[in-house]
Amino acid sequence: MDDRNQGRLTRDGITIHEAADFAGMQKAGQLAAQILDDLCPLVVPGVTTEELDRVITQAVEDAGARSATIGYKGYRHASCISVNHVVCHGIPGGKVLKDGDILNIDVTVIVDGWFGDTSRMYVAGKLGRKAERLIEVTHDALFKGIEAVKPGNTFADIGQAIQAHVEANRMSVVRDFCGHGLGRVFHSPPNVLHYAPFRISPEGMKVNSSGTVITDRSPVLEEGMFFTIEPMVNLGRPETKVLGDDWTAVTRDKSLSAQFEHSIGVTADGAEIFTLSPGGLFHPTYQV
Ligand code: MF3
Ligand code: CO
Ligand code: CO
Repeated sequence: MDDRNQGRLTRDGITIHEAADFAGMQKAGQLAAQILDDLCPLVVPGVTTEELDRVITQAVEDAGARSATIGYKGYRHASCISVNHVVCHGIPGGKVLKDGDILNIDVTVIVDGWFGDTSRMYVAGKLGRKAERLIEVTHDALFKGIEAVKPGNTFADIGQAIQAHVEANRMSVVRDFCGHGLGRVFHSPPNVLHYAPFRISPEGMKVNSSGTVITDRSPVLEEGMFFTIEPMVNLGRPETKVLGDDWTAVTRDKSLSAQFEHSIGVTADGAEIFTLSPGGLFHPTYQV
């Protein structure tokens, strides 16, 4: 799967990209983010998710790019649109959005062979109080994860930062889906978990649930790694199930779920976010 990736592979099978590769990811990431920006005024009560997907398909074509999801494992759409208790991989269709619905729209494009993968939350009409808190916590959890990205930290440090923020707000992190390496391929090692097998003790040690200090054996972050962070957070329990269409994942307890996703690269001293919103419209408190 990784044979299209060049550069060095770590012993965990993670590709280390060249400095010049960041520009390719920036271009792909910016197209995906621009497409999500342009959708903002269209997400209103009365629109169907397939109408939104049609706009996305057209935007990808107009840009001279390709959709990474059309044809991926038999998937037939340019986006995943996950409404309310849908956790991820919602299939665009005839569902009409109603006032107060919250939804994640996830788009992956291929530009000059590089993959740009990003998703964010939208609201149709007026945002309810609980949904607002869920969206806020999920957004901030993604950024806590990104803040943990720097050479020398581990992948589990990212998951720990996300999980700690979510659970401090009495919400739960979905375990059944994770982020992923990407670059010249859509999904490559590692799996980027949004939780960790340890918490940080008051003394700053990595300890397990019984308080015993443990060794973090997850891969160490290195400059040139490209991957997504895409936490899914539920208001209720973390468990999910996949519907009979083999794609749509929902919360088992029907509680609301939210997700934000960025594609990022590890730099010498932190992270470069490839999928930043050109219009500052990532968080759905934007005014359009
Ligand atoms: N974009 C999703 C991700 O974040 C993957 C969607 S695959 C699809 O990895 F086939 F469901 F579109
Ligand atoms: Co992704
Ligand atoms: Co995605």
